[in-house]
Amino acid sequence: MATFLYMADAERGRRWGELFRRDAPTLDFRLWPDVGDPAQVQYLATWQQPEQLAQRFPNLKLLFSTGAGVDQFNLAALPPTVSLVRMVEPGIVQGMVEYVLHAVLDMHRDRPAYRRQQAQGLWRPLPVRTAAQCRVGVLGLGSLGEAVLQALRGLGFDCAGWSRSRRSIEGVRCFAGEGERADFLGRSDILVCLLPLTDATRGLLNSALCNALPRGAALVHVGRGPQLVSADLLRALDDGRLGEAVLDVTDPEPLPVDDPLWRHPRVQITPHIASMTQPDTAAAVVLDNLRRFEAGLPLVGLVDRDKGY
Ligand code: NDP
Ligand code: OXD
Repeated sequence: MATFLYMADAERGRRWGELFRRDAPTLDFRLWPDVGDPAQVQYLATWQQPEQLAQRFPNLKLLFSTGAGVDQFNLAALPPTVSLVRMVEPGIVQGMVEYVLHAVLDMHRDRPAYRRQQAQGLWRPLPVRTAAQCRVGVLGLGSLGEAVLQALRGLGFDCAGWSRSRRSIEGVRCFAGEGERADFLGRSDILVCLLPLTDATRGLLNSALCNALPRGAALVHVGRGPQLVSADLLRALDDGRLGEAVLDVTDPEPLPVDDPLWRHPRVQITPHIASMTQPDTAAAVVLDNLRRFEAGLPLVGLVDRDKGY
């Protein structure tokens, strides 16, 4: 019997186990460290790549990331016979939609400014703009970026997105590649980063990017910490090029207690909680992928090793 080994948070793993035993009783579901016979492990779900993967599990076929990102895996060290699959499931999408909508609405309706005014007992109305007057731009048009844009569009925001290859999303102005990045940034009053971390996106959120945004623009960063040059962000906030920043990801994580980002009045930080894989919806997607794999069909969320995501 093939073993599916779950090697991440034990409490969530127990729920995966209940669902797997209910919906795939012929599969031997195991929760780390109860590996059983390592030679039987054909499927592994994990957040971190275990050391000596190939030696430990010589018959591994599929490696599932328990999250949407895969930058924590060493793609070069993965045996060529193992396919890496990232998490594309409705629960993680819904969580991200909620987080980004909340952040965008908070800034669009000037809530950070009103919080600062309240701290001073200051009653001072600011102009009220409609969503249609606010241009939101999303970096990354993958499973998360597209869902976020559709939800923002539903609220009436003027939406655009940027990706590597050309995408088409109804009601969203889609920009592609380096050549169209400046135009995209120039119309982003609120910029949301939902890019995977790769060599091409590391350090992308820097001074040059801040300069390309409309003056006073806001940033919602939910991609990965190393995409942001935090010294550049702080400078841009201090000289008014940027108005506000919401950061769910930092470099390093956890953010050290003495990091100036914590205390900047225009920065809001959450501890990498924008979204999370939900076992109840994820198990069904993973089981469907196992069936697809057995049937020789394309896998949902298969990582392209050359692209790195
Ligand atoms: P996908 O792989 O589905 O989509 C990635 C998107 O980014 C694609 O549109 C891709 O372009 C685009 N992209 C990648 N590289 C570049 C580049 N160099 N230039 C322009 N566009 C680029 O990822 P997901 O939507 O599932 O997830 C995105 C990221 O969100 C994850 O990798 C992770 O880092 C982050 N995340 C954060 C969470 C949190 O709680 N903060 C939770 C979950 C995810 P193309 O379409 O052309 O391939
Ligand atoms: C993910 C994350 O990639 O939680 O799923 O960041």
